[in-house]
Amino acid sequence: MIKIAPSILAADPLNMERDVQRVIDAGCDLLHVDIMDAHFVPNLSYGPALVEALHQRFTIPLDVHLMMDNPEKYIDTFAKTGAWGITIHAEIPGDVAGMLRHIRELGLSTGLSVKPGTPVESIRQLLPLVDMVLIMTVEPGFGGQKFQSAMLEKIRTLRAWGYQGMIEADGGVAISNLPDLKAAGLDVAVMGTAMYRSNDPARDMQIIHAM
Ligand code: DX5
Ligand code: ZN
Repeated sequence: MIKIAPSILAADPLNMERDVQRVIDAGCDLLHVDIMDAHFVPNLSYGPALVEALHQRFTIPLDVHLMMDNPEKYIDTFAKTGAWGITIHAEIPGDVAGMLRHIRELGLSTGLSVKPGTPVESIRQLLPLVDMVLIMTVEPGFGGQKFQSAMLEKIRTLRAWGYQGMIEADGGVAISNLPDLKAAGLDVAVMGTAMYRSNDPARDMQIIHAM
């Protein structure tokens, strides 16, 4: 069964509690929180205060996606907010392996993400440290972009190597591309626009969980 992690970026910022409750009531599995620093990506979003507030209000696991150049300075802070998992990017400078080990030592699920132009071969050596590989299926930075189906091959490659951790896809995911993602070996799908703008997220979740 594919798990769904709605990306809060697509929620109405003035009605975030209402919108999050709606996707939780619909049966989603995780909440995906996109943290953007305006350096690694050309956009700025939230900080740890939002993750902490979500953790105090909701019990659903919080899947924190750090689109940041220097996440090592913030890993402890985000861990204290009650996040379930922290994903960092493979393209950042610094000791990525050390950061993954640190996230794991803090007791959180470790995530490593690759942008569309980054081959999975570049992270192969790191896979023993990675609980979830996040395959970006759009250029990170903004919601509402078109799904890049060429990224399916990365998921197939990871499974062909025998990677048994979780694989997550992020960007432009909709019900229409979930069958291909599932067939490739996906576990978790981030859905921003498709879930928060849906007329009937509960019906969508039933369809997805029955796939
Ligand atoms: C993009 C973010 C995604 C994004 C997904 O940089 O990492 O999580 O919000 O949104 P949709 O599903 O609308 O493409
Ligand atoms: Zn994301």
